[in-house]
Amino acid sequence: MSKISMVVEKQFALAEVDDRLFSSFIEHLGRAVYSGIYEPGHPTADGQGFRKDVIELVRDLGVCLVRYPGGNFLSGYDWTDGIGPRADRPRRLDLAWRTIEPNEIGIDEFVDWAKKANVGVMAAVNMGTGTPKEAGEMLEYCNFRGGTYWSDLRKKNGHAEPYGIKTWCVGNEMDGPWQICHLDAADYGKKARETAKIMKWIDDKIDLVVCGSATSLMATYPEWDRVVLEHTYEHIDYLSLHRYYENLGNDADFLASFVDMDRFIKSVASTVDYVKSLKRSTKTVNLSFDEWNVWYQQKQTRFDWEVAPPILEDQYSLLDALVFGGMGITLLNNADRVKVACLAQLVNVIAPIFTKKGGGVIKQSTYYPFRDISKYGRGTVLKPVIAAPTIETCYGDAPVLAVSVVDNGVGANGTGDISVFCLNIDQGKSHQLDLDFRSFGKVKMTMRQELSGPDQDLKNTFESPERVVPVAKAVAGGEAESFALEMSPRSWNVIRFSYAGK
Ligand code: AHR
Repeated sequence: MSKISMVVEKQFALAEVDDRLFSSFIEHLGRAVYSGIYEPGHPTADGQGFRKDVIELVRDLGVCLVRYPGGNFLSGYDWTDGIGPRADRPRRLDLAWRTIEPNEIGIDEFVDWAKKANVGVMAAVNMGTGTPKEAGEMLEYCNFRGGTYWSDLRKKNGHAEPYGIKTWCVGNEMDGPWQICHLDAADYGKKARETAKIMKWIDDKIDLVVCGSATSLMATYPEWDRVVLEHTYEHIDYLSLHRYYENLGNDADFLASFVDMDRFIKSVASTVDYVKSLKRSTKTVNLSFDEWNVWYQQKQTRFDWEVAPPILEDQYSLLDALVFGGMGITLLNNADRVKVACLAQLVNVIAPIFTKKGGGVIKQSTYYPFRDISKYGRGTVLKPVIAAPTIETCYGDAPVLAVSVVDNGVGANGTGDISVFCLNIDQGKSHQLDLDFRSFGKVKMTMRQELSGPDQDLKNTFESPERVVPVAKAVAGGEAESFALEMSPRSWNVIRFSYAGK
């Protein structure tokens, strides 16, 4: 067991965490909407057909925004198919996922669901088959107060008040040849710029996210990002990035995914700053990591023209949850540039919440690390000053411990809280983390929790829904300026401390 010291210095503030870092994603894909969030006739369905058992878990996760309606689906979607009387809505082929879209749910119902689930909406406009004009019309429908064709149509459809949707994605993964009406970087850049101008003229309070690279593995990355930004820089607010990881047979490499994600974020930020310099701009464009997760992309099944078939229903193991936790640490430790991050996705489709049609709902293993960072990761991230031994992986040398520390701030009772998240990627050995809190004075440990276990392949199922759950560990008594904590092999840990606010 090695001893790894970390100085938790109050003055080493990296950034305030934006609440939108704990966002997620619902696409019209598989059973995310139909028999996910919406299932009329289900025993827990409310008057609109929304599953209350799912809403309860979404609330428990503390999700901030939910990106909607896609994803690859977006690039062929006509948003007007999803408004107005249900009986008049068309059934359409969805070319992205080879399914049939019944359009029972559209933007109006989704906004209603979001209110019930206590989340905000991050809307997306179609840059594949869609036009800048249609993007503007959707925004007018959603956010304009009234007295125009589209805003009055919203009122006629039962929503008198504008939705005030603030964050908008200008398309999805437009660099991907798989995208419906994929464009090259210059063509997308010009289309996104003109769309952004229209959208900001309609509502100058919105934030716009342009498509960066669909993954760091794209041959066009990071050139795509540079070209898109050269066309759009002064008109947009965020650049998106997406990345999924899967176990390709080497557990050590898989556990080190957080190292690669960190490198990806830093290189995209550098690309943004290069364009900032080129433009002699004083404005900083930040990042929206609006799709991240573990996803077994090699194991996809093909479906043919069904309504809501079980697409991308990955079942997550303990090992997947640990990798996922590492990615959460990377997001927190880059909170100075990443302001929005969406766990893709939320229900059924590569998701922490998994339902049975007509039946129950379970929490997948990844539910827990997401809830941990969302619940305890708010406040100020402190710079992770730590030197840990490393393990050799396909991503280079990976520190055995990934750590993020968040000063949650001082509450009304005069007491402050500090939350420490730690992933031990060493599969065989414990490591001791020596935390030095001197700058906070004496602190008191208030909570300690671990997600670990001898069988890394264990998954939660409907029959045994609590096989992979965090367990409470003994809390060290007394107050001290430093604490030594043993981190079990292959474990995800949350440790909290309180301090006296001054
Ligand atoms: O989240 C699943 C898919 O992954 C999304 O539709 C797409 O944007 C990405 O490639």
